[in-house]
Amino acid sequence: MQYNVIVIGSGPGGYVAAIRCAQLGFKTAIVEKYDTLGGTCLNVGCIPSKALLDSSEHFTNAKEHFAEHGIDIPAPKVNFTQMIKRKGDVVKSNVDGIAYLMKKNKIDVHKGVGSFVDKNTIKVTSKDGKETTLTTEKVIIATGSKPTPLPFAAFDKKRIISSTEALELKEVPKHLIVIGGGVIGMELGSVYARIGSKVTVVEFLDSLIPTMDGTMGKELARVAKKQGIEVYLGHKVTAVENTGSEVVVKAEPKNGGTALELKGDYCLVSIGRRPYTDGLGLDKIGIQTEKGQIPVDDHLKTKVDNVYAIGDVVRGAMLAHKAEEEGVYVAEQLAGQKPHVNYLLIPGVVYTWPEVASVGYTEEQLKQSGRAYKTGSFPYKALGRARASMDTDGLVKVLADKQTDEILGVHIIGARAADMIAAGVTAMEFRASAEDVARMSHAHPTYMEAVKEACLAASDNRAIHI
Ligand code: FAD
Ligand code: NAI
Repeated sequence: MQYNVIVIGSGPGGYVAAIRCAQLGFKTAIVEKYDTLGGTCLNVGCIPSKALLDSSEHFTNAKEHFAEHGIDIPAPKVNFTQMIKRKGDVVKSNVDGIAYLMKKNKIDVHKGVGSFVDKNTIKVTSKDGKETTLTTEKVIIATGSKPTPLPFAAFDKKRIISSTEALELKEVPKHLIVIGGGVIGMELGSVYARIGSKVTVVEFLDSLIPTMDGTMGKELARVAKKQGIEVYLGHKVTAVENTGSEVVVKAEPKNGGTALELKGDYCLVSIGRRPYTDGLGLDKIGIQTEKGQIPVDDHLKTKVDNVYAIGDVVRGAMLAHKAEEEGVYVAEQLAGQKPHVNYLLIPGVVYTWPEVASVGYTEEQLKQSGRAYKTGSFPYKALGRARASMDTDGLVKVLADKQTDEILGVHIIGARAADMIAAGVTAMEFRASAEDVARMSHAHPTYMEAVKEACLAASDNRAIHI
């Protein structure tokens, strides 16, 4: 079988690249080793985690907030089997949707492990060992990433688990110990804390979600503690042991002090993910990985002329929408267009409640670069809309250039931050000043008024409602 483009991997990078290639008139195939399409994101990542976050949030509202709203119900109970089943249904409808999109765009789907024979030939080995050989002009590698284990404690998938197992547990943990207070740790930690687990987070650095603006991590730690999550910052984990009926985690404070020994029934290790290239046969085309990543140039081209790589397997943020942008970029470039990805404006979101969302530079980055900046903040508790829904935790923080007033970063922790950040992206794509946004009418009462107020505060220290 002869193709213009073969995409290896059907996550958000791969399937979006394939669709755009097909739209542009290329005869396209996609190779996927798993039974279903959609990669990490749809099967064991973004979608199932958000499904459980939503279910657990409904439970919290019913348990803790309905009465105050004047809704009396008997004490709600968690039906965990149903929660996991619904999550499975949500995943199924999403992955079926991708299979439909492949058909609609006349993209051939080959199920099996794809590996290079040479730069124009891909061998697909299916589960039953059957081999199919495909030839192609161009290849896009989109093989994604896998969870990183601790060097001294492999995932046993029973008590020492990754996010994949945490999305598929058979019981609600009594005590879930989370190693790594990043995005996965805080999202899945929230799910289980809401439905009754004791949750303890052990983080090596001095802040939760440490890649985001420091104010966000501080506020998230405050809210997490309020929600009953135990947080140990600045702790180095030294041992994790599955003793059969429980898991024992030992950690030491980085700067000295009393060592910690925690006993739980599950330990979620969420210390980052690593690029995945096993079985791809990169050696056959002379590509060596660097820190696990496939090296690419500014145009996402590898050192082999007709081979490109995108998404989690290359440098940059490991995010579904980043992978998608790169998929579109490569396809359009192959068609002779001049696409562009603005990496600074790839937003980052943590789907805890309150949500955290960021775009642009953090205050720490601006300080480090020596750029003169000003800040404006506005707390949710001063917002009418937030009081109406009792979602008063959080704030909006806007960073702007000291001289020109151009917005350099928008950081939000609060209800609906995940959706609000798109306004920050739009403003920054158009290089708006804080005053530009501050002078635009924002509907009342909305959470977005906090963005306007933070811009007023940043542009001229003239927030109205505080
Ligand atoms: P992947 O989605 O990892 O897909 C790679 C695919 O390639 C896989 O299906 C794999 O089976 C296949 N493959 C690998 N090697 C071969 C081979 N040799 N032959 C054939 N097939 C192969 N990101 C967000 O933006 N928002 C979120 O809310 C979010 N939540 C997440 C929650 C969790 C729990 C996790 C783990 C991740 C989450 N992410 C989220 C990150 C997101 O899932 C990844 O950034 C995204 O999936 C990367 O897309 P990708 O296409 O590069 O790779
Ligand atoms: P992460 O990079 O977000 O967080 C890992 C955390 O573990 C960091 O805070 C780090 O300091 C800490 N850490 C590292 N080694 C440690 C150790 N030995 N002991 C204690 N702490 C340690 O990685 P995470 O949460 O595993 O997620 C992986 C990727 O998946 C992320 O890059 C993220 O982009 C993506 N993802 C995105 C989501 C979203 O967009 N909402 C949701 C979930 C995952």
